[in-house]
Amino acid sequence: MIEFSMELSTKIYFGTGITKEALEKEKRWFDKKNILLITTGRSLIKYGYLERLEQILKKLSPCSRIVIYDKISPNPRLSEVREASELGIENDVQIVIGFGGGSALDAAKAVAAGVADIDLLENFLLKGLEPTEKTLPMIAIPTTAGTGSELSKAAILSSHEHHIKSGIRGKYMQPKVAIVDAVYTWSVPERITMETGFDVLAHAAESYVAVKANLFSEMLSEKAIKIVGKSLSTLKKDLDDHEAREQMAFASMIMGMNLANVGTALPHRMQYPIGIETDTSHGAGLIALYPSWIQHEQEVNPQKVRTILEWLGLKSASASDAFKDLQEQWDISYTLQAFGIEKNRLNTLAEQVTGNVGNDKLANCSGIINTILEESFS
Ligand SMILES: [Fe+2]
Repeated sequence: MIEFSMELSTKIYFGTGITKEALEKEKRWFDKKNILLITTGRSLIKYGYLERLEQILKKLSPCSRIVIYDKISPNPRLSEVREASELGIENDVQIVIGFGGGSALDAAKAVAAGVADIDLLENFLLKGLEPTEKTLPMIAIPTTAGTGSELSKAAILSSHEHHIKSGIRGKYMQPKVAIVDAVYTWSVPERITMETGFDVLAHAAESYVAVKANLFSEMLSEKAIKIVGKSLSTLKKDLDDHEAREQMAFASMIMGMNLANVGTALPHRMQYPIGIETDTSHGAGLIALYPSWIQHEQEVNPQKVRTILEWLGLKSASASDAFKDLQEQWDISYTLQAFGIEKNRLNTLAEQVTGNVGNDKLANCSGIINTILEESFS
C-alpha cells in the first residue's frame, strides 16, 4: 500500500546564471519594501556576488532600502539572529533575503520569524514554539550545494549560553522563493565542496532509511545518491566541472524536499553536539560518524543499505569499509579524535543527542549512540 503526504510551498527557480531573471519574476515580494539581506560575507564579497545581487535588487526596486547583516557564523547563533532581527525592526524591513551557505539561509529564516515576534525568539528555539503567520516572507539564494535549507522548514541554530544546538521549525519558516543558481557554487573551494557534498549524500541516505520514508521520497533519495556518487568524484578531480556543480546543486535542492517532509536519521542528531563542542562543520561531523553508523544501520535495514552501496558502486566487504574507501577517495577521512574531542567526553556527547531519534529504527538498539561515538573516535 502506498500512502504519504508531501508539502512544498516554495516556488523554485533552478539553473545556472538565473538569479536576475528569477528576481525579476518575483519582484512583487520586495518591490518598494525594505529588504534585510542576511549573508555570511567574505567569499561572496570577494567574488563580487554580493555587490551584484545588491545592484540587481536596486535596479528592480529603486525605492527599497537594503540593509545587510553579514556576521553569521558557520554554526549560526541565537545571539546573531537576535542582533539581525533587531536591525530588521529598526529599519522596518518587510522581507528577508538569505544569501549564502546553509548557515546564512537558516539564520535568515530565523530572522524572518524574529523580526515579526522578537519577544518569542528564544522560546522558538528553547521551547520548540512554532513561529507564527506573522513571520516575514523570505527568499533563499543558496551559494553552496549541501544543506537543502532553501526548501526545508527548519533553521538550525546554536546557543552557547544555553548549551544547545537545535532547530526552529514550522510551516511559516519555508522560504516563499528559492533561487538555486549553480553559478555561486563554481568558486566554492575543495574542502567545502566535499564536506557540503557529503551532507547531501547524508540527507539522501538517511531520508532513504528513515521510518518516515515513502515511495516519493525514496525516488528522490535514489536520484540524489546516484548524482552525488558520480558528481562529487568528478569534482574531486576537477572543481571547474560546471555540469557536476549543477548536478550537485540539483541533488542538494531535491534533498531539501526530503528534509522538509521525511527528515534525517541518527547521524544528523549526533552531529549537533559535536558541532557545538568542536565548532567543526556540519559535513565534517557527519563524515566522522558515517562508517560506524552505516555498518550498524545495515543490521536494521539490510536491503536498503545494500541498495545505497549499490547505487554508489561500492563493493567492499563491509558497509563500514565501503564508506571508508569512498571517504578516502574523496580525501575526507575524519575522526572525532582529530576534532580535538577527549575520549572521556563521549558519554556527555551521547547524553546531549536530542530531537527525533525515533525516525531511525537503529535508535531502538540500546547504547547504540555511545557505540557509534566510540567507533568513530579514532
Ligand atoms: Fe545536513
